[in-house]
Amino acid sequence: MTNNELPDWAAYYRHTLGREPRPLFTRGMAAVRAAKVAPGQAVEIGFGDGTETLALLAEGWRVFGIEVTPGAVDVLRARVAADAEDLLELRIGAAQDVALPAFDLLYAGYSLSFIDPGRFATFWARLRDALRPGGFLILNIFGTNDSWAGDPTMTFVGRDDLDRLFDGLEVLDLQVEDADGPSFGGPKHWHVFDVVARRPVA
Ligand SMILES: C[S@@+](CC[C@H](N)C(=O)[O-])C[C@H]1O[C@@H](n2cnc3c(N)ncnc32)[C@H](O)[C@@H]1O
Repeated sequence: MTNNELPDWAAYYRHTLGREPRPLFTRGMAAVRAAKVAPGQAVEIGFGDGTETLALLAEGWRVFGIEVTPGAVDVLRARVAADAEDLLELRIGAAQDVALPAFDLLYAGYSLSFIDPGRFATFWARLRDALRPGGFLILNIFGTNDSWAGDPTMTFVGRDDLDRLFDGLEVLDLQVEDADGPSFGGPKHWHVFDVVARRPVA
């Protein structure tokens, strides 16, 4: 994955296949379990190799998965247990073009920043509308210090933007990475906001 050129997502999935669920996902799901929320409707945006969708299915969640890369759907379908197939609904398309079902949990790992900045506000408003009372958001988004900031096709947020996005939600966990590190495309500066938030029940 490199900046300023189309990412080679197929190569990325080969690289990530077999990984553990992302730490953000694991933290978020611990919060969901601690709140004793029963598995309901989940959404995953940009599921990639499908690791987190498989984990949600294994816990009994229905999953509505959205991916812009058609090959990801093939990678995921080949990994789904036969008895979980009925719980899974997949859409190939850009998240900003897909109607979201009402949901109790949304996970998006390293995918939301790939949404066109001109479409992000409308996308986010639809996402907030579809989030049920008591529902969870477990997601990350790149910050303005990231090496890739400046790519006009991607969305980056500052801390004030982040506060506005989560206005009215209970932020249960916020971790900020702002450091150099490795990536699939080589070393870069990562600026990433990891957020676990919940819409108040009432
Ligand atoms: C960096 S990968 C992350 C994949 C996976 N969530 C993970 O943590 O390994 C970003 C994923 O988002 C997908 N993607 C990019 N733009 C998207 C969009 N607008 N809507 C839905 N998926 C998108 C890509 O195809 C890719 O699979």
